[in-house]
Amino acid sequence: MKPHRIFFAVWLLANIPVPLVAADLNARITIEAGAPGHAVSPLLHGIFFEDINYGADGGLYAELVQNRSFEHAESLYAWSLVIRGAEGGIDITTADPLNAKNPHYLRLEVAKPGQGFGIANSGYGGIALKAGENYFFSVRARASENYAGSLRAVLEDETGRPLGECKLDGLTTVWKKLEGTLKSSGTVTHARLVVLATATGRVDLDVVSLFPEHTFHDRRNGLRADLAQMLAELQPAFMRFPGGCIVEGRDLPNRYQWKDTIGDIAERPQNWNRWQDAIRGQTAPQYYQTYGLGFFEFFQLCEDLGCEPVPILNCGMACQYQSKQLVPLDQLDPFVQDALDLIEFANGPTTSMWGAKRAAMGHPDPFHLKRLGIGNEQWGEDYFARYQIFQAALKAKHQEIQVVSGAGPGVDDGSWKLAWDKFRGGTPADIVDEHYYRPAQWFLENSTRYDAQSRSGPRVFAGEFAVRDGRMRSTLHGAIAEAAFMTGLVRNGDLVAMSSYAPLFAKAGAFQWQPDLIWFDNTRVFGTASYHVQSLFARNRPDFVVPVTVEGAPIVLPSLPARDVATYGATPLPPFHPDSLPTLFAVAGRDDRAGDLIITVANPFAEAREAEVVLRGVARITPDVRATVLTSGSADDENSFESPRKIAPRDESFTVAGPVFAHRFPPNSLTILRLKIRE
Ligand code: AHR
Repeated sequence: MKPHRIFFAVWLLANIPVPLVAADLNARITIEAGAPGHAVSPLLHGIFFEDINYGADGGLYAELVQNRSFEHAESLYAWSLVIRGAEGGIDITTADPLNAKNPHYLRLEVAKPGQGFGIANSGYGGIALKAGENYFFSVRARASENYAGSLRAVLEDETGRPLGECKLDGLTTVWKKLEGTLKSSGTVTHARLVVLATATGRVDLDVVSLFPEHTFHDRRNGLRADLAQMLAELQPAFMRFPGGCIVEGRDLPNRYQWKDTIGDIAERPQNWNRWQDAIRGQTAPQYYQTYGLGFFEFFQLCEDLGCEPVPILNCGMACQYQSKQLVPLDQLDPFVQDALDLIEFANGPTTSMWGAKRAAMGHPDPFHLKRLGIGNEQWGEDYFARYQIFQAALKAKHQEIQVVSGAGPGVDDGSWKLAWDKFRGGTPADIVDEHYYRPAQWFLENSTRYDAQSRSGPRVFAGEFAVRDGRMRSTLHGAIAEAAFMTGLVRNGDLVAMSSYAPLFAKAGAFQWQPDLIWFDNTRVFGTASYHVQSLFARNRPDFVVPVTVEGAPIVLPSLPARDVATYGATPLPPFHPDSLPTLFAVAGRDDRAGDLIITVANPFAEAREAEVVLRGVARITPDVRATVLTSGSADDENSFESPRKIAPRDESFTVAGPVFAHRFPPNSLTILRLKIRE
């Protein structure tokens, strides 16, 4: 018999005080392993996606051409003229366009074709190509009657050396989609796509597109495989989409409208991205949304990741920090109808109007939408007036859909208090979305914030959170503070239904918001320390928790900074601020399928903790313990493109002689222990 299969009898420990097993231990974690507590929400750990920091266009969405439809305000942005012994002119025009949603297109007037007259696109800071890979090119084009040529699409490196080429025939006087495949002969980071006319006459071009053949799950109009794989490795239980403030828009016309994001990509109207100028000093005037990664692709990605979709919709309010625009209550119907139609698009039969559109896009089966958010980070009476209208309409038609409601941008402030007063009062709510971007200390202080919260009200969605301070970095210290806080989310996994770190992606050299979970450029990607924390929690979510007590010298906290003293009307709110922190942050629970006891311990302090781990109420355990440890040499360490795995989980194993054992929890660490136990 293999040693790890040998179970051995140990003490029946329930209620028997246990002596320390060594003299120099400075902490004790007692786990009532045989006392099952409440179930932990299976949706607890998910992801938040927003097109911020070039997360979608130029990021996860694998399109390599920027400004493919010439709809940017600077209409030739990312394009340049190519004249090879030719003569002619170009124009951006709108006469008789491809369709009304995509009004601008490029016109080439070729007087003398030479070796080619056309344009080149430099992508999102260069087009990255791999030798031997295929790239799918497509374009909507038409030509004047006298045009007797074809189109050439060429991939070129920075020096103009051709790396791959295809010829497209079949131009007529009516708009038509032409497609071809180019194989790259080289691996380069800054290629460009050149499109050339080859004869005299007029050629009109629109929706010029280039995709790698290999996308995530090899889908057409798909997603960058390496970035999507990073999401898969997080093992998310749900995906929140499309944000974030992008849902609200800077003003109402700029808001996210899901109906603009489905169907043929040529018929999805472009929108400017509200992160163009949302943050002072971080402007990105050419940041646009193609909506190529739209609601269909979102639902499909959820299916590919095996997670639940959680869409968040505009509730008739634009950003309350910026334009503050409101849709009058008597004009809210189209907004409510959008929400109802989205449910039909996701779940409706193929005979329904929106279900048929889903089927036409290649997915006759439903997407099994179960939850829907009304408003992003809205607050105040204006929100509740609108929320109630949505809530009533949704529940009247779709009892099966749980509604996610907002609690504003803060927690423990007046708007947040008003929200909870409403949701615990007459305003019905299923799940309340709370956001916290706070310094590490706040996360440590708030690991118990849900311990005493009433279970009779709505459940909580920790919908956006991250350690964020003046340094805007993704350090090990911040990640371990998040882990310490998350032990509280798991412990309260009956109340906290869902949680997601935010934002998810950031593109090097093109970001608006820090810190972020995943950094990438056109060829590389790495997860921050926080990424590994999210992944470890998702992979080690217990089915139910068991009681845990931590003993050891408490860490006394400095007095509360004035910033945290909020008011509600004229009344100061009692801040959530414990006098001291536990010597370790721990939670434990059972993984039914694996038959494991999972012990999760965060040590956010600069000193190691030599702890005695006491398992009570177990009859037998295996001697083999599997440990996963996330730590690094310094609290200030970060991952980077150069050292992408400086901070990464490390697997270890050790043996124990019984249900009381000593274990060292390193400074600035997250440790997950898995043991097989029998009650
Ligand atoms: O995650 C970045 C932004 O933070 C989100 O768009 C918004 O909801 C929050 O204020």
